[in-house]
Amino acid sequence: MIFAHFRTEINESNQFVIACSQEKQALLIDAPVLDKRIPAFFEAHGLSLAGIFITHTHYDHVEGLADILQWRQAPVYAGKSSIAGILAEKKKQDDPLDLGCLKGRFIALPGHTACSLGLVIGERVFTGDALFAGSIGGTPDDITKQQEIQAVQQQIFTLPHHYQVHTGHGPSSTVWIEKTFNPFFV
Ligand SMILES: [Fe+2]
Repeated sequence: MIFAHFRTEINESNQFVIACSQEKQALLIDAPVLDKRIPAFFEAHGLSLAGIFITHTHYDHVEGLADILQWRQAPVYAGKSSIAGILAEKKKQDDPLDLGCLKGRFIALPGHTACSLGLVIGERVFTGDALFAGSIGGTPDDITKQQEIQAVQQQIFTLPHHYQVHTGHGPSSTVWIEKTFNPFFV
């Protein structure tokens, strides 16, 4: 598996690339910007863009989507069917991701936004702004905060402890570290 993390200049949002070592199909996770390092990385590894997964539609995760699609055409997966006028394939809890060698499962993580999604792929989970290392995403009120906490417990903390947790901002973590030390859950 080929994996890369880019911290972008758009609100320091994270952007990830995950791809198969042999088939070279790549999934881009979030689209804050068409960061210059992305085409360079694709070029260096001979990757083709098979899809773009949008964790949620806040500007700092989608602002670069149009530019990315101009660079390479690819299906967009999100919890909504439209992102600022760009069509997306709407996904929900337990929908599969099947891009040949890249196989995963979408998980619903409502709270930060109602349509926030995560993705489990290989031994990694992409959490968007639902879960951060040592924190959780901001929510409009207490009800949505409880919703977010519950979704993280049910969808992420039930995964094997060694799975990597890749978040929308800040450093990555593991299921075990967050379950054990994240102050919102202990
Ligand atoms: Fe956000």
